Amino acid sequence: MVTANQSIETAEPTNIIIFGATGDLTKRKLIPALVRMIDCGLVHEDSRIIGIIRSQSHDEWLQLIRDGLNEYSPRVALDNDKWQVFASRMKSVRGDLSEQKTYDDIGAALEVLGEKKNAMFYCAIPPAWYGRVATGLSNSGLISEQEGYRRLVIEKPFGMDLASAHALNLELLSVCNEKQIYRIDHYLGKESVQNLLVYRFANSIMEPLWNRNYIDSVQISAAETIGIEYRAGYYEKSGALRDMIQSHLMQVMTLVAMEPPVEFTADAVRDEKMKVLRAIHRFEADDVDKLTVAAQYAAGAIGEEAVPAYVREEGVSPDSSTETFAAVRFEIDNWRWEGVPFILWSGKRMQKKVSEVIIRFRKPPFNLFDSHASVPHANSLVFRLQPDGGVALKLNAKKPGLTTDNEPLVMRAPYANDEEGVADAYEVLMHDVLIGDETLFSRSDEVEESWALVEPILQVWKKRVSVDRYRSGTWEVPDMDTLCDDCVGGWHLPN
Ligand code: BG6
Repeated sequence: MVTANQSIETAEPTNIIIFGATGDLTKRKLIPALVRMIDCGLVHEDSRIIGIIRSQSHDEWLQLIRDGLNEYSPRVALDNDKWQVFASRMKSVRGDLSEQKTYDDIGAALEVLGEKKNAMFYCAIPPAWYGRVATGLSNSGLISEQEGYRRLVIEKPFGMDLASAHALNLELLSVCNEKQIYRIDHYLGKESVQNLLVYRFANSIMEPLWNRNYIDSVQISAAETIGIEYRAGYYEKSGALRDMIQSHLMQVMTLVAMEPPVEFTADAVRDEKMKVLRAIHRFEADDVDKLTVAAQYAAGAIGEEAVPAYVREEGVSPDSSTETFAAVRFEIDNWRWEGVPFILWSGKRMQKKVSEVIIRFRKPPFNLFDSHASVPHANSLVFRLQPDGGVALKLNAKKPGLTTDNEPLVMRAPYANDEEGVADAYEVLMHDVLIGDETLFSRSDEVEESWALVEPILQVWKKRVSVDRYRSGTWEVPDMDTLCDDCVGGWHLPN
């Protein structure tokens, strides 16, 4: 992340190796991000992009990438001349990831760029391959940093539970050191999420209010309108708790709840996030029913379009009890937050796509205007993460007229109106990898701690044979009102 005292830094020339070079992530996110990054000088133009491909020829791969750009990122589509320049930086290595020869061939394809042989290895492949790839690279001598830096990028999920996350960490750490591993959580690359840190730590009005004396409750949400799309295989095993809460939303929670770090460096920030995770109250099996909600989408409509129930999606078992909506009510046992619930929730096929952090303040201690007026609303501060990032402060104001009746007044400050100027999360995060800044990446201990926190929930939920339903395109999730009923204002529905 580019901090206040840094100018935007062009990364050193690097060999950017993409495993999974023909896959969706590469086409939809990585290549468009790289095109923009080269364009605006974040990636050194002497860098090389090396795709690891299996069966295609080099030209077929280039065509696939070009078609992907036109289809998914018309905004960055290149004219013929620009494409030729971009394509001249692309190389490919054909091979099978299970064969050591492939890694030897990758080694032979790495170029000395500038004076070094820097390499970023991006694993845009299923997580089951991460360990094999890391070992393959190590066996071919590609992890050692003698000739330049060597960094390994992996995408969530980092394991499916505590045991598998721990095993993955051990496997990776047996060949790389922690500083070489970049675990991407794309939520942390969102401008509006980083802006949370700036709102918190660059405004002196926040800190005095940022605690249990003034804050009643915090809700962190990610509502989506999409279903599971083509990912039944993954989602059936994952569900919303693993897919969104254990990863993205818990990361956001740590940024909201952490103490000010002593400096803005990767380990100082991550140490503070880790302290939050360690202070979260552990669930007992008996707490799970009371403090969590799981539900699954039934048929309904998103806007005008009728959509099927989850159990009718291709690849989903008709009696699946996988949750597509999950909510967890955490409590943080420390001086700042004791008694303040943090409710994290996320659902697919909801009425609207909105991600927010809602800080609800306590009610005024008494109502001075009681004899004439309506009861004042509790104040709230809403950080809209997407779409239309920004912040809104809800106050009470006098209704115009002869009484002192009040009505809510919402002061909105849009943050990212200029969509063109806002970097995509992948641009931010890949640039951070290239300049070696790990602030926005999860450390192994954070990953394991967050799994340990959700583990008791996973254990209870996996024994359930049925799950509640909500109609697609609505907010009608059973039990959410109960989960939030003692929070000022109840469950916050996006508007
Ligand atoms: C991914 C999840 O990590 O995040 C998806 O696997 C989800 O299921 C996506 O749709 C949401 O990301 P965003 O940026 O659209 O909020």
